Amino acid sequence: MITVAIIGGSGLTNLKNLRITRREVVRTPYGEPSAPMVHGELAGQQVVFLPRHGAGHTIPPHDVNYRANLWAIRQTGVSKVIAVNAVGGITPDYLEPGSLVIPDQIVDYTWGRAHTFFGSEHKQVTHVDFTEPYSELLRKALIAGASSAGLAVRARGTYAATQGPRFESAAEILRLERDGCDIVGMTGMPEASLARELELYYASISVVVNPAAGKVQGTIELKDIEQYLQSGMTKVRTLLEHAIPRIAQTASSAVTV
Ligand code: HPA
Repeated sequence: MITVAIIGGSGLTNLKNLRITRREVVRTPYGEPSAPMVHGELAGQQVVFLPRHGAGHTIPPHDVNYRANLWAIRQTGVSKVIAVNAVGGITPDYLEPGSLVIPDQIVDYTWGRAHTFFGSEHKQVTHVDFTEPYSELLRKALIAGASSAGLAVRARGTYAATQGPRFESAAEILRLERDGCDIVGMTGMPEASLARELELYYASISVVVNPAAGKVQGTIELKDIEQYLQSGMTKVRTLLEHAIPRIAQTASSAVTV
């Protein structure tokens, strides 16, 4: 049985510590996922890995087929999903590049993305609860995994999902801050709400790779981001190794998400 699905973001197109057993090309009613699903073993558990931006990092955030990705994950029979997201830091405690955040809330600013399985073609109007967008069960496993690995993480934070692919203006970041957002990224939505529609447990490890626009002097430089992506993703791999055995122990029958 597969313990968990991992959706890798920028900087995490492969998991070095994953012992790969097979690759699976999946088709869904919504088209093809970003890449073949990579099955393997990590920390003694069966896991499946999907690079969100494609195996060669070619699919920009607004063109990711989020529905196909989540559908393909559900088809494997797994019920728990850990997403990895690169983000910019907005509020003072979240500015340090290379730091990890396990967010607990989301504000969605994206538009024009296929964002639901429950569109007008669906038999019945359906609404899902999204009060707590992330699974508390998975968040706790990630926080405990970080603590056992000796990794500092911010145990909560509000994630602003923006459309991209451009970065934000300084005024846009001030607006997000007034809205209560701590971090900003381009891939958190509609992934989280699609996971909820499919009744999947879902949580994110967000990696701060830059202070958001206007939060430090000057412009956002990709070469600086690159450096923190690498060091941040090394931490993510360590965190996953410690969290996955804990995720295996959490009862899938738990009533709370
Ligand atoms: N804004 C939006 N998305 C991001 C950023 C940012 O500053 N950094 C990494 N992903």
